[in-house]
This record gives sequence, structure tokens and C-alpha cells, in this order.
Amino acid sequence: MAYNNHFFNPFRALSLLALLCLSFSTNTGEARRPFACDPNNNLTKGFKFCMVSAPVNARVADLIGRLTLQEKSMLLANNATALPRLGIQSYEWWSEALHGVSNAGSGTRFDGDFPGATSFPQVITTAASFNESLWELIGQVVSDEARAMYNGGAAGLTYWSPNVNVLRDPRWGRAQETPGEDPFMTSKYAASYVRGLQGNAKGNQLKVAACCKHYTAYDLDDWNGIDRYHFNAKVSKQDLEETYNVPFKGCVLEGKVASVMCSYNQVNGKPTCADPEILKNTIRGEWGLNGYIVSDCDSVGVLYDNQHYTETPEEAAADSIKAGLDLDCGPFLADHTEKAVKKGLITEKDVDNALANTLAVQMRLGMFDGEPSAQPFGNLGPKDVCSPAHQQLALEAAQQGIVLLKNRGGILPLSNRRHRTVAVIGPNSDVNVTMIGNYAGVPCEYTTPLQGIGRYSKTIHQQACTDVACNDNELFEAAEAAAQQADATVLVMGLDQSIETEMRDRTGLLLPGYQRELVYRVARASRGPTIMVLMSGGPVDVSFAKKDPRIGAILWAGFPGQAGGAAIADVLFGTTNPGGKLPMTWYPESYLAKVPMTNMNMRANPARGYPGRTYRFYRGPVVYPFGHGLTFTTFDVKLIQAPTQVSLPLSSAVNSTTLGASNALKLEHTNCNSLSLGVHINVKNTGTMDGTHTLLVYSTPPASGKGSAGNKRLVGFKKVHVSAGSDQRIVVGLQVCQHLSDVDEFGVRRIPLGQHQIQIGDDLKHAVSFNMRM
Ligand SMILES: *[C@@H]1O[C@H](CO)[C@@H](O)[C@H](O)[C@H]1NC(C)=O
Ligand SMILES: *[C@@H]1O[C@H](CO)[C@@H](O)[C@H](O)[C@H]1NC(C)=O
Ligand SMILES: *[C@@H]1O[C@H](CO)[C@@H](O)[C@H](O)[C@H]1NC(C)=O
Ligand SMILES: *[C@@H]1O[C@H](CO)[C@@H](O)[C@H](O)[C@H]1NC(C)=O
Ligand SMILES: *[C@@H]1O[C@H](CO)[C@@H](O)[C@H](O)[C@H]1NC(C)=O
Repeated sequence: MAYNNHFFNPFRALSLLALLCLSFSTNTGEARRPFACDPNNNLTKGFKFCMVSAPVNARVADLIGRLTLQEKSMLLANNATALPRLGIQSYEWWSEALHGVSNAGSGTRFDGDFPGATSFPQVITTAASFNESLWELIGQVVSDEARAMYNGGAAGLTYWSPNVNVLRDPRWGRAQETPGEDPFMTSKYAASYVRGLQGNAKGNQLKVAACCKHYTAYDLDDWNGIDRYHFNAKVSKQDLEETYNVPFKGCVLEGKVASVMCSYNQVNGKPTCADPEILKNTIRGEWGLNGYIVSDCDSVGVLYDNQHYTETPEEAAADSIKAGLDLDCGPFLADHTEKAVKKGLITEKDVDNALANTLAVQMRLGMFDGEPSAQPFGNLGPKDVCSPAHQQLALEAAQQGIVLLKNRGGILPLSNRRHRTVAVIGPNSDVNVTMIGNYAGVPCEYTTPLQGIGRYSKTIHQQACTDVACNDNELFEAAEAAAQQADATVLVMGLDQSIETEMRDRTGLLLPGYQRELVYRVARASRGPTIMVLMSGGPVDVSFAKKDPRIGAILWAGFPGQAGGAAIADVLFGTTNPGGKLPMTWYPESYLAKVPMTNMNMRANPARGYPGRTYRFYRGPVVYPFGHGLTFTTFDVKLIQAPTQVSLPLSSAVNSTTLGASNALKLEHTNCNSLSLGVHINVKNTGTMDGTHTLLVYSTPPASGKGSAGNKRLVGFKKVHVSAGSDQRIVVGLQVCQHLSDVDEFGVRRIPLGQHQIQIGDDLKHAVSFNMRM
């Protein structure tokens, strides 16, 4: 998001700000005027589009029938025009809610009765919990707060969240916004969060409309002179089907999302927002999106101005609308569509089709149903934002997402009896804004790490570096002295938005500046145990600390949200038993030299010295692997039962001739849709502390397949809470079609015949043999 440089200049920003100040009064919490179909407006009484009992498509058709071409064009922009003659107000489509209601979009603002909203951990942290019900619950809470703010006139109902691009490269500045590097897990995250946001309102209704972005193959912002506005991602059909598109498909099919956003970049020479193959044919045709497709902010302008994809602006407008784009974040379509129709580049019917998709979503949100207070969620107000229960969930999310990377000799948890004084040191030791990451709003309140630790013990605080850049070591002696006096030392290190964010990809994976020297010196000076806590979105190469016996424990907190400091302290002192697992590979710095960020290939190419990407394809050394995460207790995991043979039923249209001598079955040749394998597992907590265990279930297809043979990939996961000494029986269901198929070089899914290896956790393995049922 964020308007690109060409569009977003500071002067415009100022005038936009002035405009916003003029057009909004302070939030009073009083009910907003109805967006349309105001029962007090005699004008609207006869309009069919206002008839709540009529079907949505009939209401939409009625409204479109009343619009002029000029009006239609002006409804194609995020700041959709008001139509006073039809009793319709203007509407700002752009709101954001990545991990809490955010003011990153112009549709939402904080003041008056809504000074802030619950700020959950950044997505990469919440993802590390591997807790699907948590993901959905957060969506529910965020949409309660969004509805409350909408009722009070402070927010919109269309949220351009979540970001579900697969984290392909560890340098990506937006790593923090994503659920990590695994497409299956990202797909599950997307579906859960979207379900939470959109609510399970009856029928076709929407609580708020979510949006999965940025479609597709987008995860480069600004690297080595190449930016997202000019980047042409060269992607194989295999990687597209097997990796990049997986979360979007899950978001549409399982999450039933009401919107998808196309990206700035090109894919194989075509701007995604003007490519009918990936928009019209795939999202709408193949996946059946029930909703609208929106551009990233000003990406239609980008494909014309920056990419010079068409000769004229009218062609750019026509190409995107014909490709399936329904709404422009930016003024381009509003400015050029009318003329594009007049020139005959598109028909008015094409414009009507686009509007039908956006207007239907507004109808499903209840925006044409009159008085907001009389509608579902109409009772939500200021008391429902930042409520104690919501803030408690933000704390739980942080507790569940923190990952214990190292715990030498069980140094953690600390004890508030033995560790009465704790030295709290480092650039992130007393931060607030850093904890909420990007695409945040204004939190209800903050607990910094220093404040959190202060609830358990006396603290001696030394920030030691002015900021995360840590450009000098002048204050290090004072930090050493603090560590000498204390019973334990906690160093809070890492990154912030000055190192990784939108339009800022990283150039390296090491801790910046003198941070490493600070850790090294303090660990040597420290009287008690030394613990390092890291805040970062992407992975950090902390090999030195992993190896150093003086550093007893390492915690990764991601960007843990408003309650982050409290959650960190709860883990340090053992009030919470950590159970988070890394949702991405932590590569060593040396990895970067072998992988240009522009190379989109997932698979390794040893002949060219290309090591491949993510745990699914990369086999080289790692600092910490995908799925790593320790706990204060011990678990014993046993396989109880799982099938050893699967006979794939052939679909009636196939016979031995059409099958040929293939050793893999195309999905269309088998009725595998309802075929699911149940893997029954027992998890026993053999330690002395209650805890949660995340079961990660992988599969490795046989080498006979044509796809990713030989690579394990995640096909199921489940988080369980097990109290000390007891055990839990779990069943993980694996969908054969979806999860045990393989993608060939043409992007075609097949189920390889022969022996598939199922792996539970790091070392429990089980073979299942697949054959055809003739
Ligand atoms: C709407 O119609 C009613 C009844 O015909 C009339 O009394 C009222 O003044 C009208 N309201 C407006 C705002 O025109
Ligand atoms: C929408 O924004 C654009 C650019 O900021 C502006 O030119 C246009 O007038 C706005 N349209 C409406 C209906 O407010
Ligand atoms: C956040 O931290 C900054 C810098 O330390 C401080 O000035 C500010 O008051 C803090 N804000 C809140 C709400 O605690
Ligand atoms: C197999 O199916 C093909 C195409 O449907 C058909 O032409 C052929 O006769 C069938 N062969 C056998 C052995 O049934
Ligand atoms: C998942 O998160 C919810 C909400 O915090 C929590 O109640 C539940 O116990 C968590 N599940 C596990 C297995 O920890």
C-alpha cells in the first residue's frame, strides 16, 4: 500500500491532510448519518436499491441503471464520489486492519471518542503461535472495534488486510506483515483471519469486508536499485501454482474473502492489475471470488507512468477493467474511464460489471439498509474498543507468539526470588512504537519490556545505544557496570522500522552497528545469567549468540504489539510457558551472496550455485530452522495410528489408455476430493510445567513424481495444551487432493504414486503407499 513516489509527494500529502481536516469533524461517538437510503430522506423511499428485502443483485442492477457514465467512473476510485441526487454519500474504501484497526489508510482516524484501538502483535509474531483459533479470534475482535468505529463515523467497513504474500526472501522489509514462508500455513492464516474479520453473519452478509493482498508473486520492495514499481517477477507456472498463489486461493475458497488486491509488480511481463489470466480467469473464474478486485494504491497509474505498459492512459484504464479490476486505489480510473468508453476501448457494460462487484459488497455490508444503529453490530460503540477483554487477547497473542530459541542448561525461567535485580539493557529495552510494527494504529496503551520486567523484579536500565542503528559504543561501560550489579541481565536487541519496512528491504541479516559488541561485552561482565531478547520481523543471523555459552537464552518476540513487554516478562519469569515456533528459516548472512532478491525461483539450482528458498527447497546451513521453538517442559510424541495404504479411486472418465504409463495421477483423473487421511497422535507432557505443543506434520512425496520430489512440506499443524504429566490424543486430517499432490513444471497438480513419507515434528516418520484403485 502507500501511494508510490510518483503519486505521493509531500505537497499532496499536506493538501490531503488539509482536506481530511476540513471534511471530518471530531469523532463524537454519535451515530453516523446513514451512507444511503436514509429513512428520513423522502427522496429515497421509492428506490428499489433501498429495498432491504430485495435480492442484492436486483438492488445493484437498479442502482447501476440510475447512474450516468460520469458518475459510474467516479465510483471506480477509493474516494468514491457522493451522489446527492440519489441520497448516497461519499465513501472512502481504504481502511486497514492488519493487526488491529489502523490509520494507515485514509478511511480511518483516531481522535475524540476513539483515541486508539487494540494493537495486536505484528502478524509474523501471531503466526508463530500456530493457533488457528487465536487467528480467528483476533479477526473477530478487530472487526468489533472496526464496526464500533464505523458507527461513530471514524472508520470504514472495507479493510485491505491481510497481507498473505509468501515470505520468499529474508530481506523483504514487509516480512513482518506476513505469516511467514510456508504457503500452506499462510493459506490457513488467511482463511482464519478473514473468517474472523468478516464474521459469520447470516447468508451473504459481511461484518466488515477483508482483502487478501498483494496478488501475486510480490515480495520485493526496493533492493539494489530495483523497486516494486518497475520489477518484473519472472515466475514459473510450477512456483505460481505451488507457492505464490496458494494463500490467495485459500483466502478465496476457504476464507470466502470479499476482496483481492493486485500488486504493483509485473509477473512475466504483465502488470498484475491488467492481466486477465490471473484476475478474470483465475480469481474470478477458477476460484469464484464473491467480491471485488482492487488495485494497490495507484498501481494503475504505475503501469502507465512507470512501466509504460500502454500508449495512452485510456488504454491503461481499459486494459485493467477488461482484465477484471473493479476498483482503483488512486484517481486513475476515475480520471480516464469515461474517455476510454467514449473512445470505444471498453463498453459501458464493462464498467457496470466492475461496479456490480463493488456495490454488491457495500450492500452485503448493510450500507444501503438505512440507519446504521438499527442494523447488526449497530449497538457497538466506544466501550467496545480497547475493552479489557480485547487487551487481554493482545497479551495472550504475544505470549503465544514468542519463540524460545535457546535455553542453555534451563537458565530460563528466571525466579523473582533468586533474581531480585535485573539489568535491562539495549536499544529495544524500553520501546513502545517499535513493538507494534508497521500498518499499526494508535494502541490503547503500551507495556515496554522494561515496564514488564519491572513487575517481577527491581530493574537497572541502560539503553546503551541511542537507537537500533547503534552507531557507537560510548555507553557500553555503563551497561557492563549494570550487568555486574544485577542478579540477571536481559538484553533487548534487534531491529525496527528504520531497518525493515515497506519500501525498505534489508541489506544484511546481522544485528546493526555495535549491537553485537554490546551483547558480547555485557555477557562477559554479567554477574548472573544473560538472556538476549530480539525484536524483528525478518530473521536475524545471531550465530555468535547461539554459540556463545555466556548467552544463556535467546527469545524472539517479533514485534509483539501493545502488550509485548508484559508478554516478554511473563515468559522470562515462567508465568507463561513459551510454545511459539519460527514461521520462517533463519539463514546465515552468507546465504545472501548466493541469492539475488530478484530471482523468484523456489527450487535450488546447484549447477548455478543457487541454493533455493525456504525450508522446502533450501538444504544449506541455517541459524535456526523453520518450526524451531523450545519450551520449559518436555513432550513425548507418539504415532498411534495412520493409514499405510491409500487406493486412489479413478474418475469414471479415465481408463488405462488415457492414463498412459504415468506414475502420478492428475487430480482430474481421481475422485480424491473427499479423501482425507487421519493421522492419530498422542502428545504427553513428561515435564513438570503445563505447556503447549505445536505438532507440525510434513509430507515428502516419492521421487516418482514430477514436482517437488524429495522435499518435505507442511501439510498439517495443530497446537495443543497439555498439563504436566498428562497426555492428549490428536487427529490431524490430511486432504489428499490438496495437500498430498505435487505440481509439475506446467503447473498441473498430480498425486504421485508410490511411497509418501509423513513426518511428525523433527524425527517421527511414517510411510504411506499410494496406488490406483482399478
Ligand atoms: C417527507 O414527507 C413527509 C410526508 O409527506 C413530510 O411531512 C416531510 O416534511 C417530508 N420531509 C422532507 C425532509 O421533505
Ligand atoms: C479523489 O481524490 C483525487 C486525488 O486525490 C481528487 O482529484 C478527486 O477530486 C477526489 N474525488 C472525490 C470524489 O473526492
Ligand atoms: C513512547 O516512547 C517515547 C520515547 O521513549 C516517549 O516519548 C513516549 O511518551 C512513549 N509513549 C507512550 C504512549 O508511552
Ligand atoms: C478409453 O477412453 C478413451 C477416451 O474416452 C476411449 O477413446 C477409449 O476407447 C477407451 N479405451 C478403453 C480400453 O476403454
Ligand atoms: C489458542 O488461543 C486461544 C486464545 O488465546 C486460547 O484460548 C487457546 O488456549 C489457544 N490454544 C492453545 C492450544 O494454546
